[in-house]
Amino acid sequence: MATRTPLISGNWKMHHNHFEALATVQKLNYLLGEEEDLQVEVSVHAPFTDLRTLQTAIEQDKMPIVLGAQHCHWEEKGAFTGEVSPAMLAKLNVRYVIVGHSERRELFGESDEWVNKKVLAILAHGMVPIMCCGETLDERDAGQTDAKVAGQVRAGLEGVSPAQVGGLVIAYEPIWAIGTGRTASAEDAQATCAVVRRTVAEVAGEDAAASVRIQYGGSVKPANAAELMAQPDIDGALVGGASLDAADFAGIVRH
Ligand code: PGA
Repeated sequence: MATRTPLISGNWKMHHNHFEALATVQKLNYLLGEEEDLQVEVSVHAPFTDLRTLQTAIEQDKMPIVLGAQHCHWEEKGAFTGEVSPAMLAKLNVRYVIVGHSERRELFGESDEWVNKKVLAILAHGMVPIMCCGETLDERDAGQTDAKVAGQVRAGLEGVSPAQVGGLVIAYEPIWAIGTGRTASAEDAQATCAVVRRTVAEVAGEDAAASVRIQYGGSVKPANAAELMAQPDIDGALVGGASLDAADFAGIVRH
């Protein structure tokens, strides 16, 4: 079986200016530096205005932290006011880019088709997408969780080669658990992450399914991280609120 190094990602959303961002990674670096042997990969996904500052700090101090972004366009350049291209992120040594977060889908109209274009563009620039999927509370109550999540995964992976699929990250985030303090039970989270992995096997084969990393997201805290990440199909976490504070985030990384 493929070994999957867990990836714990901090999604800062629209929080932390570049001074606050720098202070947060410096503290995180200090806290993680105490770990003799970090068995997980850690990424932070800061607002665009912070990225250059964080890149410089992470590289100069050789921090055990990987630079991530929260979003990008799929085009290389052009008349797209307000957008940032994958090429621009790659130039800052960004490694992971979140795609299709439910807030982008719900508040900014991102469709499955856009998510797919972004996944392909991010891969084409040598970065790794963290492609998000997840159901609303109504969909869960109507028993549609598996169909919704499998549909998003299929649509997002359209035209992606099996080898590329194996290298990417998929985040399962039940929308009703994001920022609400409600977490899916470890059992429910595992069951849906298993659906994600099965769907990957169907579209890209068993090898890709064995190596793709699946994160759980939605009110992950130091107190619930261990139980969630002990599940066989959960290979890390996408953490919002609790990643803003370096001590809480380090607590999740250590779990
Ligand atoms: P949360 O956010 O941890 O604050 O629930 C998770 C996310 O939206 O990625």
